[in-house]
Amino acid sequence: MRGWVDLHCHFIAGIDDGARTEDEGVRMLEALYAIGFDHVVATPHMRPGMFDNQKRDLTEAYARMAPRLAQSGLPATDLSSEHYFDDVVFSRIVAGEGLPYPGKKAVLLEFYAVDFPQAVDRCFSALRRAGLLPVIAHPERYQCLWRSLEPLERLVDGGAAALLDAAALVGKYGSQPQRAAEAILELGLYHAACSDAHRPDDVKDVARAIKRIEKLYGADECEALFGSGPKALLDGQLPD
Ligand SMILES: [Fe+2]
Repeated sequence: MRGWVDLHCHFIAGIDDGARTEDEGVRMLEALYAIGFDHVVATPHMRPGMFDNQKRDLTEAYARMAPRLAQSGLPATDLSSEHYFDDVVFSRIVAGEGLPYPGKKAVLLEFYAVDFPQAVDRCFSALRRAGLLPVIAHPERYQCLWRSLEPLERLVDGGAAALLDAAALVGKYGSQPQRAAEAILELGLYHAACSDAHRPDDVKDVARAIKRIEKLYGADECEALFGSGPKALLDGQLPD
């Protein structure tokens, strides 16, 4: 299978907890290309207090790596960010100081590990009014969803997208995220899946997860999660 799109990957060197060197980032991209990804969007962290990156820092880091990204045998790349959903970063996004996906129709959001903030529905409405589809990164990892998927169902019903970190399906993050990922997949609440790769070796887990999805749900589901799904999100649309 070719033509897949990875909407969440930490291949830019030395800017967060992802690739430590350009070589490592390039090897990550080579591995993703080898399993079918023709387009990978860099999503380095923007998380105050942990990864104090602003738009300019990320843009400059991506530009520094650009010569390496032009070599053959790699997927096409773009720059976006994994935005940590606090007041500071939310204000930045609304002010145009975030890094939405290319085309500026959708934006990747990461949440506090335990729960969604109380204001999440109101904030998502504001993003939608600004023309941005909120894309929830790895919902299977948020502890509130291990007890009940109701908060995620509510947000998806309200027009948000859910992005599976595929490696959760092969136990990379432990049994609870794996069970949550399986349940969310079973309910059909994911709109796309991604690698969230931080190291070249992480791609092995993604390959195993793809095999597992194919075995459980068939090749059409893989195509929906890694092909048509992410393409629709880049277009600001929720796939059917
Ligand atoms: Fe990530």
